[in-house]
Amino acid sequence: MSEKSGKKVVIAVDGPAAAGKTTTCLALADTFGLRYLESGRTYRIVAYEALRRGVAVEDGRAVVGLCDDLIDESRSTNLLASTRYEPQELRSISVNRTVSAVARIGELRGRVTELIHLWANAQARCVVEGRDIGTVVFPSARAKFYLTARPETRARRRVQQEGRGSYEEVLKDVIRRDEADMSRSVSPLKPAPDAVEIDTTSLSVNQVVDRMVDVCRTRGVAIS
Ligand code: CDP
Repeated sequence: MSEKSGKKVVIAVDGPAAAGKTTTCLALADTFGLRYLESGRTYRIVAYEALRRGVAVEDGRAVVGLCDDLIDESRSTNLLASTRYEPQELRSISVNRTVSAVARIGELRGRVTELIHLWANAQARCVVEGRDIGTVVFPSARAKFYLTARPETRARRRVQQEGRGSYEEVLKDVIRRDEADMSRSVSPLKPAPDAVEIDTTSLSVNQVVDRMVDVCRTRGVAIS
């Protein structure tokens, strides 16, 4: 999708676990009527189905085969938009533990990137969040953000948001997934060189959204 060729808008938002990406992106999408995509959900769907169907996540070929089956099974919708899964299924402790192994498989990432491009091509203006959106999926997006916050703040927010799990367990999971996401060889989590980094530790959702809107305006991205 090319932003240059028309009025297409893609806002890319990356960052570590529980940095506030979803809340902020939803607020931005709501305010400006943008379509929103949470790319991590697809990696979670694949991890969830691998666990359910007994596919070994260390076996890259088998996981890619599973992803192809899932794409076939949800042919009419696009796997990204599948409504078959409950949030609590995709955010279970076992999926949290498994998803990093799935997300390091390069060929699987290629499949997910294709699905995101397909989805985004059908949208006029959208905001997409993940780990590699500004670096790999939409490297030429003009508005890119990298949201961060202290791990302790992120864990506290996640416990509050999900209302389950102990703070210590959640903090451990957040740190473990950050390390896995940042150190993998394929599409590691890192800010794109032209991403604007926002530390949300002591900012409200509205303050973060305001900063993003300012950056969009400065970069000539027509969100409103
Ligand atoms: O919501 P939370 O920040 O906990 O994570 P998520 O966005 O649901 O992503 C779950 C996992 O999927 C991440 O820890 C990454 O391993 C992987 N992921 C990725 O590799 N690339 C993306 N674009 C999005 C997620």
